Amino acid sequence: MKLGTATTRIALAHLFVAALLLPFPVHADDDSQLAEGARVFSTVAGVGCKTCHGEYAEGDVGVGPYIRGATEGAIRAAIDATGEMIVIKSAITEDEIKAVSAYVGSLGTMQAVRTLAKRGRFLPAEVSIRPGTAVQLIIQNSSIQPHTFKSDNLGIGEFVVAGRSSGSVEWRAPEAEAEFSLYCTDCKLKDQFFTVRVAASAKEFRPVVSVSSATDDAM
Ligand code: HEC
Repeated sequence: MKLGTATTRIALAHLFVAALLLPFPVHADDDSQLAEGARVFSTVAGVGCKTCHGEYAEGDVGVGPYIRGATEGAIRAAIDATGEMIVIKSAITEDEIKAVSAYVGSLGTMQAVRTLAKRGRFLPAEVSIRPGTAVQLIIQNSSIQPHTFKSDNLGIGEFVVAGRSSGSVEWRAPEAEAEFSLYCTDCKLKDQFFTVRVAASAKEFRPVVSVSSATDDAM
């Protein structure tokens, strides 16, 4: 009996290890699908979704609306029925629809936080984020030169943003209140910081589950 119990325990331990290992390959798949989705989002049909919906799907171009977090159902419905999106309809493949849906959906789980870097100054210079919030930190580089941004405490390493464009990094705020900062290593002003304040009093970010729930219900 004792042996039996021990064997069971070993078997359970194996199951447990298997369960722990399982997420890794699944995650790798997810990552490549998200990368493919990002590619579709910026290039499909030679225009990409971003031309009309904005580089980060925020609806900031003035053509298509904010679609961060839009579901596959809403995206399919839009491709089928939106006149402006006709160019997409004839070019996009089934796999590309799935990939771009995963990507747009993942954007909806992150709060988009923007700052404009101008000669080393940041506008805004500070943001407040609720603890535990997943963030897509977007840095717009107003200079024609590429610039390098760095943080000593965000844990994201150095990254370069090309001239007159933007770059983003994904980051999750800790559960405890804290302050983080980021700076430009090669700008004119080197003593300026972009501060990310993690505070319980910050406005809550609500992940977008569905842009057009009415459309999804009908499907
Ligand atoms: C040429 C411009 C253009 C392109 C390219 C484009 N869209 Fe759109 N899209 C629009 C416009 C305009 C609307 C709004 C239509 C309306 O409100 O009737 C829209 C609507 C949508 C909606 C519905 C939003 C809502 O609130 O219901 C989704 C989802 C969407 N687009 C996703 C995408 C995706 C994903 C891509 C790329 C695969 C894409 N669009 C490419 C212009 C575009």
